[in-house]
Amino acid sequence: MGHETAVTASELATEPFVLTDDFYQDPHAAYDELRGRGPAHLVRFPDGGTGWLITDYEVAKAAFLDPTISKALKSKGARAALAGEAGGGQVASAMFGDMMVFYDPPEHTRLRTLVNRAFSSRAVRELAPRITELADALLEDLAADARTDQDLLDRYAFPLPMLVICELLGVPNEERDNFRAWSTTLVSNDETIEARTAAVQQFVGYIDQLIRAKGSEPADDLLSELISVSEDGDKLSHRELISMVFLLLVAGFETTVNLISNAVAILLSDKTVRAALAQDPDRVPDFVEEVLRYESPASEATFRYTTVPVTLGGVEIPAGQRILVSMAAADRDPARFTDPHTVDLDRADKNHLAFGYGIHRCVGAPLARMEGGVALTRLLAAYPDLELAADAELSWRKSLIVRGLTGLPVRLRP
Ligand code: HEM
Repeated sequence: MGHETAVTASELATEPFVLTDDFYQDPHAAYDELRGRGPAHLVRFPDGGTGWLITDYEVAKAAFLDPTISKALKSKGARAALAGEAGGGQVASAMFGDMMVFYDPPEHTRLRTLVNRAFSSRAVRELAPRITELADALLEDLAADARTDQDLLDRYAFPLPMLVICELLGVPNEERDNFRAWSTTLVSNDETIEARTAAVQQFVGYIDQLIRAKGSEPADDLLSELISVSEDGDKLSHRELISMVFLLLVAGFETTVNLISNAVAILLSDKTVRAALAQDPDRVPDFVEEVLRYESPASEATFRYTTVPVTLGGVEIPAGQRILVSMAAADRDPARFTDPHTVDLDRADKNHLAFGYGIHRCVGAPLARMEGGVALTRLLAAYPDLELAADAELSWRKSLIVRGLTGLPVRLRP
């Protein structure tokens, strides 16, 4: 990435690449086309604003690690990038400014330290028996309906991660349909700013009430732990507490739901992989890694902002620009992964970027991996003949952040 080969933003592209509705149904075709042109691309996002989409593996890693590329919504770079734009970025800056995913060090480090322990590999291993129990209970519920078409997203892939994150935090699960509706609106690039703002306000209002209720009746759960830290004064403000709970809830179920359903969708169409897993269920963890690489549930990372001019993959990007690192594109970069458009259980290189990279790398990765593995193992054991429902056509949600299906109609037993 030497400066001597740098191309300036204006030399590179006068017209941004436009992400249209077709993009969501087949983003990999667009990524392949873009990657063929270079590693960093000026694009027009569905909110009308522009930014730089990164599609190459090595350049994506460099962007994740560059300390001059800020995550902080309150930074000068972010303000410049969002100035005058009637876009989703404004919703974000108003609503989520206090989430750790939108902070730089040292604030980020302070907040991240508070939750690291709860999501460590060791803490997560202890949750495995309970997650298995929850998965089995959902599968048993399905038994009575096994010979009619069922939406596996509604009946399994969604409720399982929701139950798990609610239990972990100590949040009642009754509101789960509301959580789902608010969150779907929030991450959709097909909703108005007003609708997205209203969804966030409702969600935040609910969390605020929840914190007040929990404060008077603490229990042995993560929310009570975070509340006691916030009562400690300078460690976590009330706004930060709300933001943390919001982030954990949304990040805790949106992504894992899609890990499970994207995995099942692959199994329903790829007979070779399906047969390999039926023969040896111990290969499920290898499959989970391939799903993460091949159809990453978080397709693009959250926005980053250049604070000074930077050169990424030989492309010079001015200060005050939005950067969108595409893990989905990077993880199918042929320069890094041989035969990237194939799901290969024997793939030795498991260093995909599905959980991001650098200081913001997903704190929930051990939980997501374990939950995905348990969900698939139990599903395949209970319903080995699972099939896509006759005439079912799968379609993808219109979201730049989340890669997930709108539904997954299946027949559990022939
Ligand atoms: C398959 C499931 C998951 C995927 C693919 C995923 C992906 C990601 C990615 C790509 C990032 C980095 C975002 C960026 O740098 O812009 C991230 C951050 C984060 N994830 Fe996950 N995630 C998953 C599951 C979870 C779960 C289960 C939780 C926890 C309950 C979680 C909590 C978080 C949090 C709190 C952050 C922010 C970390 C920080 O800013 O330091 N994620 N995730």
